[in-house]
Amino acid sequence: MLPFAVQDATKTLRLTSRPRASIITARIPVSPLLTSRLIADRNNSNITSKRWSHTAKWRPVQVLDEYGPPALRLWVVKEARPISLRQLMVFGRSLTEARLISSANYVRTELPTRIAHRIRDMQRLPYVVVTNPHISDVYELYYTAFDTFRRIREVKTLEDNEHLCKEISKMLRAHLTVIPKLAMGILECSGLMPAAELDHFMNTILRSRISRRVIAEQHLALTETFNSHWFSPGAKLSESEFIGEVFIKCIAKDVIEHCAKAVQDLARSANGPDTKIPEIRINGHMESSFPYILSHLEYIIGELLRNSVQAVIEKHQKSKDPSSNPPPIEVTLCEAPQHVIIRISDQGGGIPRDILPYLWSFGKGPLKNQRLENLGQVPLMAATLQELKVNDSKLTGLQSQRSGHDSSLSSLATRPPNLRLGMGLPLSRVYAEYWAGSLELHSLEGYGVDAFLQISKLGNKNEQLATRAAMDAV
Ligand SMILES: Nc1ncnc2c1ncn2[C@@H]1O[C@H](COP(=O)(O)OP(=O)(O)O)[C@@H](O)[C@H]1O
Ligand SMILES: [Mg+2]
Repeated sequence: MLPFAVQDATKTLRLTSRPRASIITARIPVSPLLTSRLIADRNNSNITSKRWSHTAKWRPVQVLDEYGPPALRLWVVKEARPISLRQLMVFGRSLTEARLISSANYVRTELPTRIAHRIRDMQRLPYVVVTNPHISDVYELYYTAFDTFRRIREVKTLEDNEHLCKEISKMLRAHLTVIPKLAMGILECSGLMPAAELDHFMNTILRSRISRRVIAEQHLALTETFNSHWFSPGAKLSESEFIGEVFIKCIAKDVIEHCAKAVQDLARSANGPDTKIPEIRINGHMESSFPYILSHLEYIIGELLRNSVQAVIEKHQKSKDPSSNPPPIEVTLCEAPQHVIIRISDQGGGIPRDILPYLWSFGKGPLKNQRLENLGQVPLMAATLQELKVNDSKLTGLQSQRSGHDSSLSSLATRPPNLRLGMGLPLSRVYAEYWAGSLELHSLEGYGVDAFLQISKLGNKNEQLATRAAMDAV
């Protein structure tokens, strides 16, 4: 009788690093991509040298799909239930014990569902990619989180909710390593998979990460509100500026002013106190406002302004008259019935021609090696403005200033402000598109850059996962 793997060679790959007893569960589909990769492996010493010494704790796709116990199978076929900013607010308005418990059960089932989809995505990556040490660490983190949340029983009491909240906080902390690990994994795997597919994977997994953090942090914030001494059940919270993580009235001008000041301080600390820092001017519809998750907006605006300020400083230092004032950065606000558009225009010389094609990519481009090295210095990343470190103190966000509430995570992660990780733009776009907005850049070679951030004003747009195809992005 033929060995098992040969009998079913079109469908299975025998994982030699596993004991024989686990072969049955170690059946994974061999995609044409993987088959050609395995042949390439044999022929191409370059790629062979990419085999990681690390033994991945691999679990096959079928654990979640065909062969797993029914409880597991259930998760991957479940669809994520998209949520809008407005719904997030409604959960928090007139907060009662019953509403808190219903929010808890939404999170309790939604987290493992969304994580299960991502685990399935990872299992579908070519083996040589998923066994990359960084990617496989992320896989382990996801699997552990999935396994933890799927076991949590229905929340019926406030004590049950406390237990759930503890697990959520633990997961959020443990997952601070995810972004740097994924970014390093993707950079190390470039060349092993088409760049567009790697970027698609990265965009999907990051969007999903945002989605889980939004619902998890929203629930933690609601629980914190419910437990606070000033709270009385059923009281209307509509007067308050925040409902959980949602800032009901983000006034664009205030957010930009706050970010501008933070970015200018960062630039001064990174480039020296005598550096000429460009002024940041705001014009247009100064009253523009919309509901939003403030930390998301601060991240996007912070990254765009950081790029502009740095480009202007560098160009100006090379100019004929570096002691003069550099040209200002102009921020224009435009309020339309459906959107608010924020344009950031700088005169920093535009995007270097060799970088332009790779602007939105996580995994390729001429600066790959430098970025890998830089990422090695950032073990934890929450992707917030606050985690940028200035002279041993961190920035505070508007959110923490106004409400006394700070996202639990931004206080844990720090990263040096002048390290270029190549993730500012692609990650900002993931944030922008998450709430049905967009981010575009136009570079005027030799002159400057115009960045256009469009935000959906109504707040009732769902997370971007309405269709079955987009569902996979949750
Ligand atoms: N406003 C800008 N002016 C000039 N170059 C820019 C601008 N914004 C971005 N860039 C270029 O694009 C690159 C990628 O930007 P980003 O994704 O924010 O990553 P990072 O800033 O960490 O390198 C930058 O390194 C820079 O070369
Ligand atoms: Mg940047």
